[in-house]
Amino acid sequence: MNDVVEVVVPLGERSYTVAVGHGARTLASSMIPEHSRRVAVVTQAGIPDIYIPQFEGRAVSVHIIGDGEAHKSLATIERLCSEFAREGLTRGDVVVAVGGGMVTDVAGFAAASYHRGIPVVHVATSLLAMIDAAVGGKTGVNIPEGKNLVGAFWQPHGVICELDALATLPEREMRCGLGEMAKYHFIVREDLDELPFNERVARCVGIKAEIVAADEREGGVRAFLNYGHTLAHALEIGTDFEIAHGEAVSIGVLYAAHLAEAMGRIDAERVDEHYRVVHEVYSLRNPLPTGVTVERLIEDMGRDKKAIDSLTFVLDSANGLDVVSGIQEHDVRSALDALVQRLG
Ligand SMILES: NC(=O)c1ccc[n+]([C@@H]2O[C@H](COP(=O)([O-])OP(=O)(O)OC[C@H]3O[C@@H](n4cnc5c(N)ncnc54)[C@H](O)[C@@H]3O)[C@@H](O)[C@H]2O)c1
Repeated sequence: MNDVVEVVVPLGERSYTVAVGHGARTLASSMIPEHSRRVAVVTQAGIPDIYIPQFEGRAVSVHIIGDGEAHKSLATIERLCSEFAREGLTRGDVVVAVGGGMVTDVAGFAAASYHRGIPVVHVATSLLAMIDAAVGGKTGVNIPEGKNLVGAFWQPHGVICELDALATLPEREMRCGLGEMAKYHFIVREDLDELPFNERVARCVGIKAEIVAADEREGGVRAFLNYGHTLAHALEIGTDFEIAHGEAVSIGVLYAAHLAEAMGRIDAERVDEHYRVVHEVYSLRNPLPTGVTVERLIEDMGRDKKAIDSLTFVLDSANGLDVVSGIQEHDVRSALDALVQRLG
């Protein structure tokens, strides 16, 4: 195990450590409660079991959940809780999620609900889970009426970002994680691309930790984590989820730059910086999906959850990001035109 970087999420008595590095999973046993006797591992069939940490002296059970958003459901939570009950898991025991964001969301919510809350440790195996989903305590599942509509804030006891796991992560999933990583360059004004990759993952975790510490329950600055997400959600809906979330975010970040420029918040040089990060640093040259009309995008952006009584976006400025509402439709349209022109 070389060069594991530890980042603390400072939440008072609920503070915890995120360990980032190759082989960091060996630290998982130090993150579980000392007196726990049973460890319930929640994972997926496609995730190599070498990423499941060893827990000596404990009874370990492995619970496989299905792959894909359809399995991120209350039915999966019920099944997991039944399995936990049948094997006698108590509040003194622990759930360990080993997987991407879907596994950490589902296992986290099962842990939050079972016995009204038992400890959970996340071992993140996808880039997105490392820099976003596994850190911050948001857990939940989908219902037919919408994504992530049922859930709980439930902070983990610790998080492992196992960088070894990126070797087997499917390439498209890696690119999706990079789309989310690109967004962090604009949440802080730092040269993240100067950092070696492991330190950059740790810095993204650190940025998320600072935001979560400032706004655990998403009343304010946590919205900055949604940079680029307003257009991204509209693209996902408009393509019937053909475009993956992280791909859509990589386009949404560029659109947010054009919109900020149209509103006079940033200059052309800062827009170019967005293109440099997305296209050059991360090689995310995703085209705008064909068949999605400007009218449909505007309509769907108006329904975004950040829209209160008008179009609302997280936008850049010389002083950093702001949540901006009351945006004029003509700015939204002219920024879309600029995006279409530049993406070709
Ligand atoms: N809680 C939060 O704050 C938060 C934030 C962002 C996203 N999310 C949620 O995260 C989910 C998306 O997470 P994701 O992008 O990690 O997708 P995912 O968890 O669905 O994983 C994508 C695929 O990669 C596989 N996989 C993961 N790690 C692997 C590895 N190392 N080797 C081989 N295969 C591997 C998975 O089995 C799956 O098939 C969504 O459900 C989203 O809502 C939650």
